Amino acid sequence: MEAMKRTTTCGALRKADAGKTVVLNGWVHRKRDHGGIFFINLRDRYGVTQVVIDQDAPPELAALAGELRNEFCVAVEGVARPRPDTMVNPDMPTGEIEVAASNMTILSRAAPLPFPIDEAGNIKEELRLKYRYLDLRAAAMQRKIALRSEVTFAAREWMTGQGFYEIETPTFIRSTPEGARDYLVPSRLYAGKFYALPQSPQLYKQILMVAGFDKYFQIARCYRDEDARGDRQPEFTQIDIEMSFVSRDDVLEMTEGLMGHVFKKTLGLEIPPRFRRLTYEEAMERYGSDKPDLRFGLELQDFAPYVEAGTFQAFKDALALGEAERSAAAAKGVTIPGGGVKALVVPGQAGYSRKQIEELEAQAKIYKAKGLAWMKVAGTQAEPALEGGVAKFFTANAAAIIQGLGAAPGDLILIAADAGRRIANVALGAVRSKLGKDLGLIGDSRFEFVWILDFPLFEFNEEENRWEAAHHLFSYPQEQYHAVLESDPGAVKGDLYDLVLNGYELASGSIRIHDPELQKRVFNVVGFDPADAEAKFGFLTEAFKYGAPPHGGIAPGLDRLVMLMAGETTIREVIAFPKNSFAENLLDGSPAEVTAKQLEELHLSIRLGSDRDDDRGGRA
Ligand code: AMO
Ligand code: AMP
Repeated sequence: MEAMKRTTTCGALRKADAGKTVVLNGWVHRKRDHGGIFFINLRDRYGVTQVVIDQDAPPELAALAGELRNEFCVAVEGVARPRPDTMVNPDMPTGEIEVAASNMTILSRAAPLPFPIDEAGNIKEELRLKYRYLDLRAAAMQRKIALRSEVTFAAREWMTGQGFYEIETPTFIRSTPEGARDYLVPSRLYAGKFYALPQSPQLYKQILMVAGFDKYFQIARCYRDEDARGDRQPEFTQIDIEMSFVSRDDVLEMTEGLMGHVFKKTLGLEIPPRFRRLTYEEAMERYGSDKPDLRFGLELQDFAPYVEAGTFQAFKDALALGEAERSAAAAKGVTIPGGGVKALVVPGQAGYSRKQIEELEAQAKIYKAKGLAWMKVAGTQAEPALEGGVAKFFTANAAAIIQGLGAAPGDLILIAADAGRRIANVALGAVRSKLGKDLGLIGDSRFEFVWILDFPLFEFNEEENRWEAAHHLFSYPQEQYHAVLESDPGAVKGDLYDLVLNGYELASGSIRIHDPELQKRVFNVVGFDPADAEAKFGFLTEAFKYGAPPHGGIAPGLDRLVMLMAGETTIREVIAFPKNSFAENLLDGSPAEVTAKQLEELHLSIRLGSDRDDDRGGRA
């Protein structure tokens, strides 16, 4: 190998290098045989260089070239020379030059390929994941993995520059309820006991604050046994951050700085130094989502003011029932929002067919809407009118509606009503998202960041009939709600924030509770009795007894960040070795059975019940 060790890469040679003797190492990307003259495109991570084996080459090279197949790994020695003018390839950075081979060695041969490199778009993902090493050879994948490395480095560079310490926390920890299901690791030394893999370093980063490291970060692996989706994997990576003696705005500004640095450094893009801010409530009212895509407008509007003067019973019922429920709850000191009738004006889309509207309605119904009412704005600018759908119920106040909603002839109006305001908002928000895609309203390669602030601290779990933490149990309830923590959990807002980018939740964080008494009250609201809480989180509350500083933090998902920067829609595209959507690793075949001896050592026995398939989550 020493003799044929590379002296340059396949992406480096330019016209000025003509005359240099070089050694290239790489893979046969493509081979053309022009009757004994061979053109070999040799590829490595840095690019592709054309190698020529012609009449001037030693005769044994032609024989060797005949043997070459795609993806053979070879070493070539030769002289760089300018290509004849007619052969210059302006699409290749090395297109002005070629290497006339004088020596060549096959370093390793390739079996027939399961798929051609560089054509991922046409290849089943299953095959790509099984032969990931081949898939990763494609230029597009190499770029994405390179981007990920650059983003990770830029993040480290920024955080370190701001005085943060990178501190590793354990990946074998105690199982604590944190939202998703834990992955467990059985202990060999302690029969019947388990470690859990961290869903995030949450508790440890808080304990690091107690330990006095007032600025911590970590590129942290997290593990959650939940159903995989496009933007979720069972194991993923966070840029995990925690700070002491900070207010919410300190955390937001630090994160803005981090994002600015990462985008500038890796994509060369200037993003706004400060991001827009919406409260959770505003986001829900205006976009029907807590992760709105702000690359387009199409805001939800309130239709309730027009319901009374109209004659559509479904809308009146929704408001009346919602109000009855709201006042009954209020009498018990519990805050709920009541009913809602929300409208979306879709400019210029009065031409939407019945079938298209039905598709939108189906979308709304996925989110529990009872229907999706519609009408069209007809007439002229001077004298607009409503027609079709529910227009007949609003003849009395058509003009007020058109003016109030800012609609114009040619527009489509869509309306969702529900006794639960949240349902009306969310269902119409889903319709908004679909319209954004269907109508091509989303400008590509734009990045719209928005902070969502003041989330509710608790969510009601209907199935289990209890309150649970909307984010996690350690987020600080805003001061003004401390008095009603137990009596009206639904009204309590937390010092919680999400960073949303192009409709994806990119990061989540909060100011934390640092007072053990307040922490106990929050445990109590979600139904942990003190002994239970002590057993599960005793080590944290114990730590808080010893002068815990006020602190807060955030965790951007690295996979999602790189996915969005790369213009992808699944994080699998930016992870070298991802699981498929059934949590399987098709490359190594995990999860896999282990030997009886291994089980024995771990004090485990396997019981295969008839419900086995049901337990497999997504697969069943
Ligand atoms: P949270 O659970 O919201 O917060 O996660 C923070 C961010 O991590 C990313 N993320 C994921 N990415 C890929 N696959 C997953 N399964 C997955 N789950 C989450 C998202 C998300 O915004 N400890 C808190 C953070 C804090 O309070 O500081 C936490 O983990 O981008
Ligand atoms: P109906 O009178 O039930 O046949 O409904 C007439 C139209 O109103 C249909 O397009 C329904 O989808 C719609 N609709 C019914 N209930 C609601 C609702 N709660 N919100 C929005 N549209 C509704």
